Amino acid sequence: MTIDHALDRERAVTEEVVASFAGTADSRLREVMQALVRHLHAFARDVRLTQREWEAGMAFLTRAGHITDDRRQEFILLSDVLGLSMLTVAINEPTAPGATEATVFGPFFVDDAPEVELGGDIARGAVGTPCFVHGTVRSTEGDPLVGARLDVWEADDDGFYDVQYSAEASAGRGWLRSGADGAYRFWSVLPAPYPIPHDGPVGALLEAAGRGPMRPAHLHFKVTAPGYRTLITHLFVAGDPHLADDAVFGVKDSLVVHVDEHDGGVAPDGSEREGRWTEIAFDLVLPPEAPDIRPTSEEHR
Ligand code: BEZ
Ligand code: FE
Repeated sequence: MTIDHALDRERAVTEEVVASFAGTADSRLREVMQALVRHLHAFARDVRLTQREWEAGMAFLTRAGHITDDRRQEFILLSDVLGLSMLTVAINEPTAPGATEATVFGPFFVDDAPEVELGGDIARGAVGTPCFVHGTVRSTEGDPLVGARLDVWEADDDGFYDVQYSAEASAGRGWLRSGADGAYRFWSVLPAPYPIPHDGPVGALLEAAGRGPMRPAHLHFKVTAPGYRTLITHLFVAGDPHLADDAVFGVKDSLVVHVDEHDGGVAPDGSEREGRWTEIAFDLVLPPEAPDIRPTSEEHR
């Protein structure tokens, strides 16, 4: 068989599969699936994928499926360590000047976290050095966003989220609303660096690649306000050694914040503190919700 003939045969497989999606009623699904097939096939041709290698790939995906349940999401981890999560953030990130940058969502958000009052404590028993976090939620036009909802979640000082201890545990998370002037404030604990769950197939992949599982210390935010774009982001702690090797590529310089260290004294909320506590000040800036004006994939080719 000539080389040309072999290439024709490979292309024929791709074209046949692409054509099989031509009748997909949902035009966006059609576009995505046909492009997925083209790129997936191009990848297999590019690396000259062997059948044995693809069997190993499917065994990997099977292991990811088996370890996944309501509390452990190996496919999110896979997307994260492949940088696909951060690429979709980059593709969809608003370009409004001054808006707070977004980063990866991660697998540890829960829908039914408790509400805490403005100035309350989201640690709710999570261990760690107390940390007072405060700032203003405002629009890119400079208007304070009153009553914005802030969901906050974080790992404790040992590097674990509540849901990693047990399904019933709830600590280190909560939601609150910004006050009349758009100001927000809450107590939490100073986040610590931690490894992403690495006892499954994604951990094995990282190890095979000589990559580490660590994430730099961070505090997660999801900020929603009617008429504004929802912001999903973190605040990272300046000086953390893992800022340079985040396993999921989530670090952005604008999200790295200085942490003020205190020993006793009066906190900004007027409370008398004993012992060590810390403080983070950061404004959260949301652009108005805009119609979807992303360039089509055609314009990017
Ligand atoms: C997180 O920050 O919670 C996270 C993000 C990606 C993978 C694992 C954890
Ligand atoms: Fe996290």
